[in-house]
Amino acid sequence: MKAAVLFLLSFLHYADFSPLFSEKDEYHFKSWMSQHNRAYDLEEYYYRLQIFTENKKKIDFHNAENHKFTMGLNHFSDMTFAEFKKSFLLTEPQNCSATKGGHMTRDGPYPDSVDWRKKGNYVTPVKNQGPCGSCWTFSTTGCLESVTAISTGKLPFLSEQQLVDCAQAFNNHGCNGGLPSQAFEYIKYNKGLMTEDDYPYTGRDGTCKFNPGKAAVFVKEVVNITKYAEMEMVDAVARLNPVSFAYEVTSDFMHYKDGIYTSTECHNTTDMVNHAVLAVGYGEDNGTPYWIVKNSWGTYWGQKGYFYIERGKNMCGLAACSSYPLLLV
Ligand SMILES: *[C@@H]1O[C@H](CO)[C@@H](O)[C@H](O)[C@H]1NC(C)=O
Ligand SMILES: *[C@@H]1O[C@H](CO)[C@@H](O)[C@H](O)[C@H]1NC(C)=O
Ligand SMILES: *[C@@H]1O[C@H](CO)[C@@H](O)[C@H](O)[C@H]1NC(C)=O
Repeated sequence: MKAAVLFLLSFLHYADFSPLFSEKDEYHFKSWMSQHNRAYDLEEYYYRLQIFTENKKKIDFHNAENHKFTMGLNHFSDMTFAEFKKSFLLTEPQNCSATKGGHMTRDGPYPDSVDWRKKGNYVTPVKNQGPCGSCWTFSTTGCLESVTAISTGKLPFLSEQQLVDCAQAFNNHGCNGGLPSQAFEYIKYNKGLMTEDDYPYTGRDGTCKFNPGKAAVFVKEVVNITKYAEMEMVDAVARLNPVSFAYEVTSDFMHYKDGIYTSTECHNTTDMVNHAVLAVGYGEDNGTPYWIVKNSWGTYWGQKGYFYIERGKNMCGLAACSSYPLLLV
C-alpha cells in the first residue's frame, strides 16, 4: 500500500515534466538495471530513469553522427556527469608542472606501433578504483608494475591503498586526488611500496599502515616528461616502458565505448587535468595516431577497461604531466 502511494506520488511528480520518457525508455532502463544488478526505491527509480534516458539519447545521437569513437551504455549510465566527477575524478587543480622534465629523448626512428601487453607479461589486469578519486594511485602502480616486470622478469601487483593512506607529504590527498609523479616521489623517499596482497585496496581513506619490512619495490629516480612534449612520451613508451599521464575527462568520455577518443569539449592545459591513467602502447589507424591506455574503471568500461585516445595533439592535455620511475634494484 505504502509503495503504491509512493508510486503514485512519484508518478504525479514526474508527470509534470512528461513526456520525459516512454515505455521503450523504461524497457531499456529495466534491462540495463538487471544487467547491472541495480535496485532503487521508487523516487530514485524515476530520477535515475530520467538521467539514464538523457544519457542514452546523448549516446544514440553521438553514434548516429560521424565520429572517430563510439559511445555505449556502461555502469555509469545512471549518473549525471556532475555526480560522476564528484565520485571518480580529481576535483581540484593539481600541481602538474614539470616545465623541463628529466627524460632524455633519443632520435627515432620509432616503431609504427608498440603494445606492452603483447611484448610479454608486463601489464597487470585492469583494476577498479571504485568511487574514490584514487586514479593517480592506479596510474602509479600500473607504471611501476610494468617497469618492474620489464627489468626483473617478474610482474608484481602493487598497493594503491598504501599510496591513498600514506603519500600525503607529497601533495597527494588519498581519495581526493594526487599525481603519479608525486606518488613516485613518495615511493622514492619513503623507501618502497608494498604489494596488493600485503596492503589491499579498500577504496577509502585510512591511516597509513606501511610496513618497511614488507616493501617490495623501490624507486631510484622519478623521470618527468617535459610539459606538452608528447614526442618524449612516444620515445619513452617505444624504448623503455609504459608511462603514467594525466588529462581532462569531460562528459563525453564517461560514455566512451570504442574507437579513438577525440574531443572538442576538453581543455589541454596543466590546470585542467582531472584523471590519471597509463599509456601502454600506441599505433595508428586510418591516418589517425593513437595511444593505447589502461584505465582503472574495471574491465566492463570501454574496451575491456582500455581506451584509445588521439596522439600527437596533446589531446585533453595528455602530455601536460606525464612521468615514469626508474627502479632501484
Ligand atoms: C600544490 O602545491 C602547493 C605548494 O606545495 C600546496 O600547498 C598545494 O596544496 C598543492 N596543491 C595540491 C592540489 O596538492
Ligand atoms: C617531477 O615531478 C615531481 C612532482 O610533480 C617533482 O616533485 C619533481 O621535482 C620533478 N622531478 C624533476 C626531475 O623535475
Ligand atoms: C591547446 O589547444 C589550442 C586550441 O586548439 C592550441 O592552440 C594550443 O596550442 C594547445 N596548447 C597546448 C599546450 O597543447
